[in-house]
Amino acid sequence: AGRLVVLVSGTGSNLEALLAVHGDPGFGGRVVGVVADRPGIRALDIAQAAGVPTAVVALGDFADRAAWDLALTEAVAVFSPDLVVLAGFMKLVGRPFLDRFPDRVVNTHPALLPAFPGAHGVRDALSYGVKVSGCSVIVVDGGVDAGPILAQDAVPVLPDDDEPSLHERIKVVERRLLVDVVGRIVREGLTVEGRHARIG
Ligand code: GAR
Repeated sequence: AGRLVVLVSGTGSNLEALLAVHGDPGFGGRVVGVVADRPGIRALDIAQAAGVPTAVVALGDFADRAAWDLALTEAVAVFSPDLVVLAGFMKLVGRPFLDRFPDRVVNTHPALLPAFPGAHGVRDALSYGVKVSGCSVIVVDGGVDAGPILAQDAVPVLPDDDEPSLHERIKVVERRLLVDVVGRIVREGLTVEGRHARIG
């Protein structure tokens, strides 16, 4: 099975969705490690409950961002990943990290990129007033949520939505999309040419 390393910063519901299927022989991938940028988060509890090894690499423990990025790279490399999945990881990974896992890092984002990149995709879409938002799974290429798009799904914005209600509905769709895309990548492979990414 393809070796998956999942990077997390928070609740870990996308991680949970991957863990729910990674034992299925037909899925083709197994979560072999979870790496967080902070201790004490639910995502780490989820990983530990599933018996998956974890590591924490916190920016504050390093002299600068470059040193943190190198430590993060090493912490992930230890697990020899075939694919690295950023699932609610709220920091940008650096060039050394991406060079170590070329075209092997994907990210899930709660908006229809290239609209509303960054840390507040749901809030920004709501304040813009869009009537449809959604989620995107992309290949990470060093820009802020700017890499080639692998898959997207739309979610209507309802008149009474606030940020939590819309984010919750997006996350239901997002979990399904992420599991689908990750499974297809580990089973069929991923090629990236410029702005275009293709599975299989
Ligand atoms: C997800 O909606 C993910 O798309 C978002 O954080 C949430 C994490 O949920 N990520 C970003 O906004 C990255 N720019 P989870 O911790 O329950 O998986």
